[in-house]
Amino acid sequence: MIGSFPTTRHRRLRQSPWVRDLIAETTLTVHDLVLPIFVREDNDATQSLPYPGFYRYAIHELKDLAEKAVALGIPALMLFPIISHDKKDPLGSESAHSNNLLIRALDELKRHNFPIGLWADVALDPYTTHGHDGVILNNKIDNDATIDKLIDLTLLLTKHGVDAICPSDMMDGRVLRLRNALDSNGFQDTLIVSYTAKYASCFYGPFRNILGVKKLNGPADKKTYQMAYTNAQEALHEAAFDVQEGTDMMIVKPGLPYLDIITKMASTYSTPILGYQVSGEYIMIKTAAKEGFLDEKSAFLETCVAFKRAGARAIITYAALEIAEWLRDA
Ligand code: PBG
Repeated sequence: MIGSFPTTRHRRLRQSPWVRDLIAETTLTVHDLVLPIFVREDNDATQSLPYPGFYRYAIHELKDLAEKAVALGIPALMLFPIISHDKKDPLGSESAHSNNLLIRALDELKRHNFPIGLWADVALDPYTTHGHDGVILNNKIDNDATIDKLIDLTLLLTKHGVDAICPSDMMDGRVLRLRNALDSNGFQDTLIVSYTAKYASCFYGPFRNILGVKKLNGPADKKTYQMAYTNAQEALHEAAFDVQEGTDMMIVKPGLPYLDIITKMASTYSTPILGYQVSGEYIMIKTAAKEGFLDEKSAFLETCVAFKRAGARAIITYAALEIAEWLRDA
């Protein structure tokens, strides 16, 4: 029996805040947020970006930032390095350099022993002159040669105490090979937070510009490794492999246009799923708010609750600090 009008009135449960709060199916807390951070060289003073709300932090600024995140209760930070052009090459060799920017950033954060998870993105695009996530051989992104490089970077990060590595390259079999490499080097406890369903998307545009990738050289796009946005079933196939290969969490990316993917994966697998509100999604809200077309706070809170409602356990968002403050002050 589902009830009928007029004995059942749906609006009875919507008439005041206390009853709406009581029956809420979904909640958003600060513990649902992961903050991505762009790290720049200390001597690179070009702070200004054409993108509202994006910051590039120098290593000496990380302590304050992490303190703020810890005080707010954010569980994890995800680090992305902005490698200077003179250090990039076609093989992304800087990624294996023991004193590279990402490692120095990690050392600085580890030094303070902050009670916060330190995650690092693992892919070659910050380090390659062509801007692809992998090594190019015969004008193709070579799967297995790329994984060799990702293993080097992963072991380096792990030696410097990273809590989770986040392979964002979409090579086949990399979760398995990374897990094996970690385990055989004594790092059984390092988490793998894999980008499981990562679509070839225009919404990564601002991110690439921030990293200094003006235009991809070699293959013109990332469609031979990132997924086609026409496909949902394929995400389940990817998830089946990542779960079997030992991923600890799965990222779906971009976020908002892909909530159906989150829901499908969450109803099939119990491995926690994270939605990534990517740079293009973030900038849409920021820009619209700056122009006065949208209320920023409402837009971020609504979109983040939507991720949770779809089945995401947490959200990676550039707005994590602001959202945490809004939640604190609510
Ligand atoms: C690349 C990587 C990308 C993002 C995270 N890791 C861009 C890409 O695949 O080209 C995008 C994040 C964003 O747009 O916020 N390894």
